[in-house]
Amino acid sequence: MGRAGPLRVLVTGASRGIGEAIVARLASDRHHLALNSRTAIDLERIAAELPGPTLVLPADCTDPRSGDDLVRAVVDAWGGIDVLVLNAGEGVAASITSTDDAMWQRQLDLNLTAPFRFIRAAVPPMKAAGYGRIIVVASSASKRGEPYISAYTAAKHGVLGLVRSAAAELARTGITVNAVCPGYVDTPMTQRSIDAIVEKTGRSREDAAASLAGQQPTGRLVASAEVAETVAFLISDSGQITGQGINIDGGKVQS
Ligand SMILES: NC(=O)c1ccc[n+]([C@@H]2O[C@H](COP(=O)([O-])OP(=O)(O)OC[C@H]3O[C@@H](n4cnc5c(N)ncnc54)[C@H](OP(=O)(O)O)[C@@H]3O)[C@@H](O)[C@H]2O)c1
Repeated sequence: MGRAGPLRVLVTGASRGIGEAIVARLASDRHHLALNSRTAIDLERIAAELPGPTLVLPADCTDPRSGDDLVRAVVDAWGGIDVLVLNAGEGVAASITSTDDAMWQRQLDLNLTAPFRFIRAAVPPMKAAGYGRIIVVASSASKRGEPYISAYTAAKHGVLGLVRSAAAELARTGITVNAVCPGYVDTPMTQRSIDAIVEKTGRSREDAAASLAGQQPTGRLVASAEVAETVAFLISDSGQITGQGINIDGGKVQS
């Protein structure tokens, strides 16, 4: 069994898609939830529906100060931070030759460097408390290369390396560090991928959606709630699961 709640949780990218589902799932366990994304109005709408104490912390996670600022805001408000869910991220589709330096850097900044800064900020208060659960929303692209997403894949491979190394370093502190690695999830991000396929190939929306659903051997997109359930499981774990990248991809990656 994990620690008895309620736990003090910070979720980045909490305003839609997987992050919103994680917030809903953790709210059902009565945890205290600090919500981050760039768009305050979306966070306020979600916070208004939550039963327990909430914080609305709008910030761009690629701002070098945001990790320190947000962790401090949670600790100042609630006296500590128990759980960090690093979900903010985005992908961009481009061939290697059309991936310019700005696109490459943006993928590394958001999907890799931002999680590093948030983990670095959260470790001291978690260590002092002798307890912490850190979960990064990575991707099946953390384990497998696919065409036209080289920058995203490099960043997501990198963040799994960060998770594994942090887990090894912190193994005796009471802090676990894990990643969840979803396949294509039914979120606004995937809807944007479908739009891009339609625009680039002229295929119908149904065709494009079916091709992404077919990437999972189960033949369907992953639901955000399925990712959220795995996050809740990792939070509830007693501490022997650490350094893992848990695939939620219908069997696409077998590892
Ligand atoms: N959808 C998939 O198929 C899939 C598959 C595997 C992994 N993932 C990963 O899952 C995570 C969530 O994806 P999703 O599909 O839920 O995406 P989404 O629907 O686009 O939602 C992304 C969330 O992140 C926030 N965000 C984006 N950039 C941010 C920034 N610079 N600073 C702070 N917040 C930011 C967005 O809010 P604002 O725009 O208001 O900031 C939003 O709340 C990402 O890390 C993604 O790589 C997704």
